[in-house]
Amino acid sequence: MKKYELIQLKAYEDERGNLISFEKGSNCPFDVKRCFYIYDTKDGNVVRGAHANRRSKFLLVVIHGQCKVRIDTGKQKDEVLLNSPKTALYLNKMVWKEMFDFSDGAVLMVLSNEKYDESEYIRNYDEYIKELGKLAV
Ligand code: TYD
Repeated sequence: MKKYELIQLKAYEDERGNLISFEKGSNCPFDVKRCFYIYDTKDGNVVRGAHANRRSKFLLVVIHGQCKVRIDTGKQKDEVLLNSPKTALYLNKMVWKEMFDFSDGAVLMVLSNEKYDESEYIRNYDEYIKELGKLAV
């Protein structure tokens, strides 16, 4: 699996509205152990994330509104706009990410393969680059 990837989701659409589901093996590449969502971001300049994870992988979906994500794999930097509930962003472990430019009322839902454990978060960018270097050896 790639370090990061945009996944287009199938929506079940009928006259009642739309439904999207995540299921391991089809559109979700891991067993989900955690789900959280970010909402009511306080102003347009808020940056969330700004960390890498030693074990956690993530699927990010903006289920309402939009936000942008800066992605840094140590080798490659990218920026993606999440503006549809039909698009998920997969982030492998050891990827630096920053979520920003949240629109008013945006709701960012995140699924993960790991329970929350602060000790697997790397919140210092230099430390992240250092650990990536050790993994490459
Ligand atoms: P934080 O990691 O700063 O959020 P972000 O993903 O935007 O970087 O988390 C904010 C607070 O919420 C912090 O006290 C830890 C707590 N938290 C949990 O308890 N469980 C979780 O799954 C997450 C993501 C955060």
